[in-house]
Amino acid sequence: MAKEVPSTEAVRAQYEAYPYPARDPRDEAKRLIAGSPSHILEVNHFIFGGRRDFGKPFRALVAGGGTGDAAIMLAQQLADAGGPGEVVYVDVSEASRRIAEARAQARKLSNIRFLGVSIPELPASPLARERFDYIDCCGVLHHLDDPAQGLRALAGLIADDGGMGLMLYGELGRTGVYPLQAAVRLLAGADDLPARVHLVRRVLKQLPETNWLKRNPFLGDHLNGGDAGLVDLFLHARDRAYRVPEIAAMITAAGLAITGFVEPARYDPGAYVNDPEIAKRIHALPWLERAAVAEALAGNMRKHVFYVVKPANAERAVASPGPNAVPHLRELDAESFVKSVAPRRAVAATIDGIPFRFPLPPLSAAIVGRIDGKRTLEGIRKDLAEVNPALAWPEFEKQFEPLYRALHGLGKLYLSIAG
Ligand SMILES: C[S@@+](CC[C@H](N)C(=O)[O-])C[C@H]1O[C@@H](n2cnc3c(N)ncnc32)[C@H](O)[C@@H]1O
Repeated sequence: MAKEVPSTEAVRAQYEAYPYPARDPRDEAKRLIAGSPSHILEVNHFIFGGRRDFGKPFRALVAGGGTGDAAIMLAQQLADAGGPGEVVYVDVSEASRRIAEARAQARKLSNIRFLGVSIPELPASPLARERFDYIDCCGVLHHLDDPAQGLRALAGLIADDGGMGLMLYGELGRTGVYPLQAAVRLLAGADDLPARVHLVRRVLKQLPETNWLKRNPFLGDHLNGGDAGLVDLFLHARDRAYRVPEIAAMITAAGLAITGFVEPARYDPGAYVNDPEIAKRIHALPWLERAAVAEALAGNMRKHVFYVVKPANAERAVASPGPNAVPHLRELDAESFVKSVAPRRAVAATIDGIPFRFPLPPLSAAIVGRIDGKRTLEGIRKDLAEVNPALAWPEFEKQFEPLYRALHGLGKLYLSIAG
């Protein structure tokens, strides 16, 4: 009788055959893929209270680095910061690692160490003696046999004042995925992976309008990700998805604390619930329960991106607005914001089908026009006070607060702290 394939081996074999996401190292000449978690603006904001200087030594571990998105982004950003930052990449798939290595070579990055280590085995590996300021684990724990054990293995490697950025699948947003996975397993018989990919393509064409996957328009990144995307979504050897309360319980059990979800507005249903009675009740909830309500009401969260630290650091881990805070814009064109968004006195965005609309204060354009990633809020206030002497800090704060709620809520503005 054929020996049953151990499931970690099946996961490895899958990523050997179909590294995901599919990446071509030649594309490094054209663009840097910058996502979440692990953008250094987010890492600083949600883990280091905005006080980290990335020009100084910084050690990051990318656990389950895949074809390299997080490792390349981090290593490039650390190199750009000019410091001796180092990234250690681990993965069980050699094919994925080779792609990540080729991407690093294409960028002439020499600050990544590539290793073939399995996450559950980290505590018994030489890496167990190392400590990391930051650990990225994006889209990996939900493929482990025991995600909670994998999380604990990683938690043991975090430096005392460090933290971790994670992505785990969201159960509600993946509505339709698991029934289809089960159906394909039944239909596939003894087919090998390439034959199963072919089968999935045919099955997808046969889905009636009633099928939940057909009614779920939010799985585009996988569905448009070629064969590797289809394998990752429908033919995965092992995956599961989470709700916010399960994530919170697993993080607490690992001796860690969640500091924030990205994008923050999505996890605060107060951002789009208009009924004052419901809004009041939402407001009265502890923030993680608000996040749980947000997930349940929205129903569209297919992944949860969040940051964690050791509980002793949780209170000072998140940067907050104050005179010494330096605002940074992320993927926001300040010029067009100043010209065409701010004059309308509201910013609107639709994220995975949910429309968000935030009112903007009168000074939005003047403030955003002065954000350069160096000036503090007090510096911006002083500049504005030259033409508006009545603009003392409390008045400025009243202007900045709604602007921050809008732009930070949408993941477009992060803070660092000067001095
Ligand atoms: C969806 S990819 C991750 C993408 C990656 N984090 C990025 O930044 O693009 C999942 C990766 O997890 C890896 N993986 C799965 N089980 C693992 C384990 N036990 N230890 C290390 N890596 C693992 C797979 O080989 C695969 O490359």
